[in-house]
Amino acid sequence: MRIVHIVTGGVAAARALEVTRLLKKQGHEVHPVLTRAACEFITPLLATALAGNRARVALFDPEDEAGMDHIALARQADVVLVAPASADFMARAANGLANDLATTLLLATSAAVLMAPAMNPRMWAHPATRRNVERLAADGVRFIGPEAGEVACGEEGIGRMAAPEAIAACVEELLAGSADAAGRPLAGRRVLITGGPTLEPIDPVRVIANRSSGRMGQALAEAARDLGAEVTLVSGPTCLPPPAGVAVVAVETAREMLAAVERALPADMAIFAAAVADWRVDGAAESKIKKGAHGPPTLRLVENPDILATIARHEKRPALVAGFAAETDEVLENARAKLKRKGADVIIANDVSPDSGILGGEETELHLVWPESEEHLPRQSKPAAAQAVLHRLATVLRQRLKD
Ligand code: C5P
Repeated sequence: MRIVHIVTGGVAAARALEVTRLLKKQGHEVHPVLTRAACEFITPLLATALAGNRARVALFDPEDEAGMDHIALARQADVVLVAPASADFMARAANGLANDLATTLLLATSAAVLMAPAMNPRMWAHPATRRNVERLAADGVRFIGPEAGEVACGEEGIGRMAAPEAIAACVEELLAGSADAAGRPLAGRRVLITGGPTLEPIDPVRVIANRSSGRMGQALAEAARDLGAEVTLVSGPTCLPPPAGVAVVAVETAREMLAAVERALPADMAIFAAAVADWRVDGAAESKIKKGAHGPPTLRLVENPDILATIARHEKRPALVAGFAAETDEVLENARAKLKRKGADVIIANDVSPDSGILGGEETELHLVWPESEEHLPRQSKPAAAQAVLHRLATVLRQRLKD
């Protein structure tokens, strides 16, 4: 397969060439493209030697334009990798600039684009960078990293480029995806998803509810459907129109949700995105509780069944079980604990503290917590995040079913 590897200016440029080496070792054809800034850190000669193809820097190079011109290179690429992706490069790409060879290639390609950002943690956290990442993600760009750790300037925080091995593996995934028949890696698979809130009655009129909008569950269902799966979405009450091409089972309470989920088994993969009420009122009143002389009633709560934990230990357990963790603090620590406690294969964690605007909102930022590794998906719309999650889970499912 043919990969265009764009190297931008940053200390990680040298480490990124290891990705070129790994991809070449896997038998791929790698064409390096260096920005001017990259040439401050590595030489075109080094990139050429490692790739076995001439590294390009200039946009208008008579020699290149006479052979494989930049449009042909963009058109024939199976994947375009940007590693490291600097803040400046992402800003230019997010705005559709085409003021050098690398940005021009990005505009001219219809191949999958993967970026591995690397920069100082403050630059990564800056609102301008966040905006650019969101825009790029909305345009369909996939991201890997950056990771937490010490960066070149000695500061600690999120900004380190993902490991070369992880980047190479992600490129392989994208290549497999693009080679996959019509991009439908879940064709023939059954996927079960829970979404929305549950409502727990106090009496026939009043309920205990939560702020879940059901958007994430719906976006996951649509993403799974688009990858070819036969999807059942068991959903608590939401204001959303039912997604087309998905079997929706409407439920209200946690116990109804568990029963519907069990009825929907067997499935190859289950994703539990519902915000299930942890407790329900013990013995909800049969008729409306009157505002009487005795003052406010005391509600006794009892625990609801844990649907995720039940299915993760079920005799009909799906091959891949994913849970969500909505946390307001210690997000990753809590997700790791939840992974073990619930017996899931992966916990998809997000920060739902009120100022994040995630719960009930349009966007989300996710961490995939696996037993041996963690992956970060930058803040993006819920549909874009759902697509990234489903692509990742589809790859893992394929691997599991093959083993
Ligand atoms: O324990 P916590 O509610 O934070 O766990 C969140 C995960 O567990 C989510 O995937 C949620 O859908 C699932 N869950 C469940 N049944 C419950 C509570 C949570 O399936 N009763």
